[in-house]
Amino acid sequence: MASDRMLAVYFDNPGGPENLYIKEVPKPIPGEGEVLLKVAVSALNRADLLQRQGQYHPPPGASSILGLEASGHVSELGPGCQGHWKIGDSAMALLPGGGQAQYVTVPEELLMSIPEGLTLHQAAAIPEVWLTSFQLLHLLGNVQAGETVLIHAGASSVGIAAIQLTRMAGAIPLVTAGSQNKLQMAEKLGAAAGFNYKEQDFCEATLKFTKGAGVNLILDCIGGSYWEKNVNCLALDGRWILYGLLGGEDVNGPLFSKLFYKRGSLITSRLRNRDKKYKQMLVKAFTEQILPHFSKEGPQRLLPVLDRVYPMAEIQAAHKYMEANRNVGKIVLELPQ
Ligand SMILES: NC(=O)c1ccc[n+]([C@@H]2O[C@H](COP(=O)([O-])OP(=O)(O)OC[C@H]3O[C@@H](n4cnc5c(N)ncnc54)[C@H](OP(=O)(O)O)[C@@H]3O)[C@@H](O)[C@H]2O)c1
Repeated sequence: MASDRMLAVYFDNPGGPENLYIKEVPKPIPGEGEVLLKVAVSALNRADLLQRQGQYHPPPGASSILGLEASGHVSELGPGCQGHWKIGDSAMALLPGGGQAQYVTVPEELLMSIPEGLTLHQAAAIPEVWLTSFQLLHLLGNVQAGETVLIHAGASSVGIAAIQLTRMAGAIPLVTAGSQNKLQMAEKLGAAAGFNYKEQDFCEATLKFTKGAGVNLILDCIGGSYWEKNVNCLALDGRWILYGLLGGEDVNGPLFSKLFYKRGSLITSRLRNRDKKYKQMLVKAFTEQILPHFSKEGPQRLLPVLDRVYPMAEIQAAHKYMEANRNVGKIVLELPQ
């Protein structure tokens, strides 16, 4: 392959996982203030599935190649880089797209050092879901010590990060999940209680746990199918953060009055289409406040949880596995070196 070409995960038409294939494409060139990262490992996100189905377009200016996070080594520095990085440094990156390719360009401020003791595989599993969880809990949710936080899809990659960050904030994580083994994993990571939404009413269970008070914060990637239970188990002055619509987008019923009587706040969040300045601020705060806890021994040590590793050539199987809701934690993708 010519040195200005690379391999990337690709699809020509929206559709099922069978549409994915590996294509030779032009290698990106780092622009002003950008670094070229040689990708060793990338990770899958639900957004990749939606994008493949034609339901989630990359924000303007972002690569149309899938992949919101990656780890690897700095391969080239674009003009105007401030000297934070040098060729060969290992790093992990938050991306608006393009991570599932042998090379990706990244603004230098959106690269992070890999915490000591973590592998490139573990590092690739951090940027998108841990930054999302940190943002939901702290920047948007203003979580306080002693508060209860209901985390839906508790064994999802975002959920696993949120459980650990909730504990670190001195708050109490409660989770929902659809199977016993997912609940067990969530409890092992620090959930105070877990509810199987397929077998019990999580609203009743949450109200019982909180002695009728309800939860102070809900991290909700489900949306439509959960709206009524969510608002019914929200505490007075509670905050409900909607960041996904896995359970649909429709609400049929008195959402406003229920929320109003509780003085509840409904906040929505999407990280991918935030501007560069916001992402820089988020990455800086996360790097200073959270990253060191991935290396520190002790009860507060944070742990990226990997479910499966796929070689890039098996991208179709990786999508099918996530689509079947089988993963507990991250699915990562190894790029050919
Ligand atoms: N807004 C943002 O900035 C942002 C950023 C990152 C991720 N997200 C969103 O966060 C969510 C989780 O992402 P992830 O990568 O962590 O996913 P993931 O690891 O693939 O986990 C998703 C889990 O959600 C559960 N689920 C799926 N459909 C459901 C339904 N209809 N009702 C209840 N539970 C359902 C399944 O677990 P069970 O077996 O327990 O049902 C599934 O395994 C996605 O919606 C994603 O789009 C949003």
